[in-house]
Amino acid sequence: MIALGSDHGGYELKQHVIDYLNLKGIEFKDFGCYDTKSCDYPDMTIKPCEAVLKKECKLALLFCGTGIGVSIAANKIKGIRAACCSDTFSAKFTRMHNDANVLCLGGRVVGPGLALELVDMFLNTEFEGERHKIRIEKIKAIEDLDY
Ligand code: RB5
Repeated sequence: MIALGSDHGGYELKQHVIDYLNLKGIEFKDFGCYDTKSCDYPDMTIKPCEAVLKKECKLALLFCGTGIGVSIAANKIKGIRAACCSDTFSAKFTRMHNDANVLCLGGRVVGPGLALELVDMFLNTEFEGERHKIRIEKIKAIEDLDY
């Protein structure tokens, strides 16, 4: 199960990805938004990320105009490693090396064809583990720093 979320800036691209997931028979849960009415991207990140943290969904795909707003917001949530990608190399290696659990795409940045390649790459690549585990542990330690 894949969690989806977007603001109005990412709505159209999310709908395009939804069509693709349906075509591929990939199960997903869409946490909105559900139209092009203006909404705030931080609000739209929380539920999909919660679904990942509760293990109701394996990964999440978030969309906004640039992909950056949702990635900044998602990365504030403990346990979320969100990557904003616009090239397939990064979409692959952020799974392999960073164990990213959220892919963020910019509806005003990435074209529909590339977006599907990014989604494919992200969903079909597994974390490599090994030497990368210690680095993920170090990221988790940063989450616990108190300033
Ligand atoms: C909304 O206009 C836009 O600011 C938002 O979708 C996103 O790009 C923010 O990072």
